[in-house]
Amino acid sequence: NSDSDSNESDTESEKESETREEPEISKENEKVLTYDEGNDIVVMEQKTELPIEIKEDQQQKPKVKQAEPVPRKPAVYVDVIRKEDIQKARLKLPILAEEQQIMETINENFVVILAGETGSGKTTQVPQFLYEAGFALKKQIGVTEPRRVAAISMSRRVAEEMNLSTREVSYLIRFEGNVTDDTKIKFMTDGVLLKEVQSDFLLSKYSVIILDEAHERSVYTDILIGLLSRIVPLRHKKGDPLKLIVMSATLRLEDFTINQRLFKNPPAVIKVNARQYPVTIHFNKRTNENYLKEAFNKAVKINTKLPDGGILIFVTGQQEVNSLVRKLRKTFPLRHKSKLLEKDEEMKNERDANYTSDDEDIENDLKKTLKKSKKLKIIPQIDLDDYSVPDDTENNSDTDLSDSEEDSQAPLLPITNAQPLWTLPLYSLLPSHKQQKVFEAPPPGCRLCVVSTNVAETSLTIPNVKYVVDSGKTKVKMYDKVTGVTSYVVDWTSKASADQRAGRAGRLGPGHCYRLYSSAVFNDTFQLFSIPEIQQKPVDDLYLQMKCMNIDKVVNFPFPTAPDLLQLKSAEARLETLGALKGGEVTALGRAVSKFPVLPRYGKMLALSHQQDLLAYTICLVAALSVQEVLLEVPILQTSPEEKKQIRQKWSATRRQWAGQGNSLFLGDNMVLLKAVGAAEYANSQGKLETFCAENGLRQKAVVEIRKLRQQLTTVIKNNVPESEVIVDPKLPPPTDLQAKLLRQILLAGMGDQVAKKISPEEVKEGEDKAKFKYAYHANNMEEPVFLHQGSVLKKTLPEFVVYQEIYETNKMYMRGVTAIEPEWLATYVPSMCNLSEPLLTPEPWYNPRTGKVHCTVSGTFGPQAWPLPNIEIV
Ligand code: CDP
Ligand code: MG
Repeated sequence: NSDSDSNESDTESEKESETREEPEISKENEKVLTYDEGNDIVVMEQKTELPIEIKEDQQQKPKVKQAEPVPRKPAVYVDVIRKEDIQKARLKLPILAEEQQIMETINENFVVILAGETGSGKTTQVPQFLYEAGFALKKQIGVTEPRRVAAISMSRRVAEEMNLSTREVSYLIRFEGNVTDDTKIKFMTDGVLLKEVQSDFLLSKYSVIILDEAHERSVYTDILIGLLSRIVPLRHKKGDPLKLIVMSATLRLEDFTINQRLFKNPPAVIKVNARQYPVTIHFNKRTNENYLKEAFNKAVKINTKLPDGGILIFVTGQQEVNSLVRKLRKTFPLRHKSKLLEKDEEMKNERDANYTSDDEDIENDLKKTLKKSKKLKIIPQIDLDDYSVPDDTENNSDTDLSDSEEDSQAPLLPITNAQPLWTLPLYSLLPSHKQQKVFEAPPPGCRLCVVSTNVAETSLTIPNVKYVVDSGKTKVKMYDKVTGVTSYVVDWTSKASADQRAGRAGRLGPGHCYRLYSSAVFNDTFQLFSIPEIQQKPVDDLYLQMKCMNIDKVVNFPFPTAPDLLQLKSAEARLETLGALKGGEVTALGRAVSKFPVLPRYGKMLALSHQQDLLAYTICLVAALSVQEVLLEVPILQTSPEEKKQIRQKWSATRRQWAGQGNSLFLGDNMVLLKAVGAAEYANSQGKLETFCAENGLRQKAVVEIRKLRQQLTTVIKNNVPESEVIVDPKLPPPTDLQAKLLRQILLAGMGDQVAKKISPEEVKEGEDKAKFKYAYHANNMEEPVFLHQGSVLKKTLPEFVVYQEIYETNKMYMRGVTAIEPEWLATYVPSMCNLSEPLLTPEPWYNPRTGKVHCTVSGTFGPQAWPLPNIEIV
C-alpha cells in the first residue's frame, strides 16, 4: 500500500510547541570537556557551584535611568499569611533573597527584564512580591505564559502558596479559566492577552504585566513585547502607569535589551542565579538512530544500578512519551508480578491503594496485562515489542552506563528485583490534573521517572530530578514560506536547549545527564540556538490583528526578531485574496473576521454563514478544523500489527459511512469531521463518550476542546450580532443535502487560495507510472503533485476540483481535510483569483424585464496556472 507509510508521522503531528531555549553560556557556567579513558567516555562538567547572587548586568550595559523620573509608589504592604511548610520552601528559592532589590528596580523603572535560571522562582514568586507591594489593590497583576500547562499549573501553585482561593489567583486560557471579579493575579496564555489588547489597547485593568518565559520566543509573546513597548509610555502619559516585567531564562537577552526599535531607553536588567549543582554529562560513544530504545535501556540501567534520585527523560512527542511510559511501567511494575494473576477485584483494590483512581492508563494496561496473562498463562508474552532487558552481567562502575554493548533481544519482562518506578508522562496535551502529578512526591519506596517532551525544559521544574536522559531530539513544525506546506520533522535540538535539559539534573544536588548521542554529533551538528517561532510559521492572523489595531506598517513593528519580508508579504497577499484586506486597508469583512479566535480563513467562513442560516454547522466545522488531531489515523494502543490493521479498517468503514452520499459525500473529509463531532456529542449525552472515541478513533480531549470552542465562537457571535439566533445544541443533526452544498461553498470561500485540480492520465509524462498518479492533484500554487491522503473519503470519487485544509509532507505531499467543489463556483467565491474576460457577445447579453437586470456570459481562468473556468453567467 503506497500511502500507508505516511500515517505514522501524520498522527505524530500533535503540536508540542517545541520551542527551545537559547542560553547565554556565561563565564561562571563554563563547562569543561574531558576524556575519561578508564570508562571510555567524554565527560562534560559544569565546574563551579554557582553562588546565589543577584546583580545588574553591568558589563553588558549600565542601567540607564528612564528619561523621565519614574514616580515612586508609596510603600504599601499587603499581608499574606502562608503555611509554614510553604514559607520554608520559599525561603530556599534564590529569588527570595533578592526581593527587595527586585522591587526597588521595578519601582524605579517602567520596564524591567528579569533573567534567571529555570527553577530560581521567577514565575511563582514575582507575582507574590508584586501583590505584597500593593499592585493588586486597584488593578490586576497579569502574567502571560506561552503554554497552557504553565498558566494553569502556576496559577494553582501561587494560589496555594499565598493561601488564596482560585477566585483571587486565577487563570484564563483559550477554552477555560476561573477568573472572577475578585481576581488579583491572573495567569493567562500570551494569546489571551493579545486578544485583550485588541479590545482595550491600554490594558487598563492591569497595574503590571509580566511576560513570562520570554526566551521561548513564542509568536504572541514577541508581539506583546513590541506592543507593550508602546503601551507603557502611553499609560505613563495618561498618569496611570503600567509596569512591564519581562522574565526569561538567561539567554540571548540582547534581542530584548539592546533592540533600539523596541525600547528607546534600554530597560533595567536583573539577573538571578539559581543554585545549580554540577551536572556530569555523559555522551554516548555512538549515536543510535533508535533513541526511544536507547532511552528505555538507559532508564532501565539507571533504575537497576544507580543510587536513588528521580529520572527525567526527554523525547519529542506525545506518542513517544506514552509508549515509553507504558514500557517502563511494564518493566518496573509497582507490585509483584504474581499479583497480576489475582482476581480483577483484588487487583483493583491493590491499584487504588497505589494510584489515584483517575489514572486510566495504568488501569487499562493492567486489565490488558491481566487478560493476556490469563489467556496465555505466561507473562513474558505480555508485550510484543522488541525492547530488550538490560544486560545484568554488565558491571560498570559508578555512573557510567556505557552504550557500547549490543543489548540482547529478549521480550519485555517485568523486573521485580529493582526499585519500583513511579513513571509519569508529561506533555502539553495531557489533562492538567495528570500534569500536576509530576510535582507530587512518588509513593514511598518508589523512584520518580518522568517521560516528557520539552515542556519540562524550562516551563515546569520537576522536583528531585538527579538523572536526565536526553534524546537530543525535538519535533519542529516546518513550514514553507511560499507554498505553506507543513511537515513535522524530528530533528536535533539546539546546544542551548540540550544544556538547559542537562541543567534539570542539578537542582537537588550534583546530577548526571545521559546524552543519547555522541559528542561529535553535538559539536558538529547542533545549532547554537533555535529559530524564534515567529520566523517559522504563517503570520496571517497576526498581520490582520495588527492591522485591526491600526498598526499600519506591520513591517515597521518593533518585533524582537522580525519575521522575514517574504512571510509578511505572503500573509498580506492571502488576506487580500480572502477579502480581509483591500489595498492594504482592513475591510468590514476583515474586522468581522478578526473578532474570531481562529485563523482568518475560518473567521471568514463564520462571517459568511451568518447570512446563510448555517451558522451552527459552520461553527462546528470551524471548531473542529481549529483543533488538532480530532480523527486518529493509527490506534495508539499497544496492539499487534494485525490488530492495528483491523482497527484501521473498521475506522475507515465508519468514516465512509459518515460521508454519506450526494453533497454530503462531496463535503468529503469535512463531512466526516462534522458527523464525528455530532455523533461524539450524542454519545456524550448518553454518558458514553469514552467508549465512542475509543471505538471510532476520535481523540477524546479534542472532542472536549471542540465543544468549548463552539461555545466560545457562539458567544463571540452573540456579542457582536445581538439579534443572531444560534442553536447551542452540541448534538448537531447531520446537515441536509442543501446545507452540505452551502457548506462546500463556504469552505471554498475560506480556502479559495487552496484549490487543487485532478491530474488527468493524459497529463502524466511519458515514462512515468500512471498508476502512481491515480490520486494526484495539482495545487494551484505548486509545481509538484499533491495526493489525496489514504484516509480521505474522496478516494473513491476523485472529484475534478477540491479545496484542502493543509498540505503536509511526509514521504509525499498530502492534502488534509479535502472537500470537492464545482469549478463554476470559483468566480463567485474567489473572484480575486479569477481572471475574467470581457462579457462574451455570444450568447448575447439579455435583459430580464422582471428583475430589471442584464445578464451576460464571461469566460476566464483561475489562479496562477490559468486553469480555464467554465463559462459563467454574470448579472
Ligand atoms: O520560574 P522559575 O523557573 O524561575 O521557577 P518557578 O517555576 O517559580 O519554580 C520555583 C520552584 O517551585 C521550583 O523548585 C519548582 O519545583 C517549585 N514548584 C512546585 O513545587 N510546584 C509547582 N506547581 C510549581 C513550582
Ligand atoms: Mg518560570
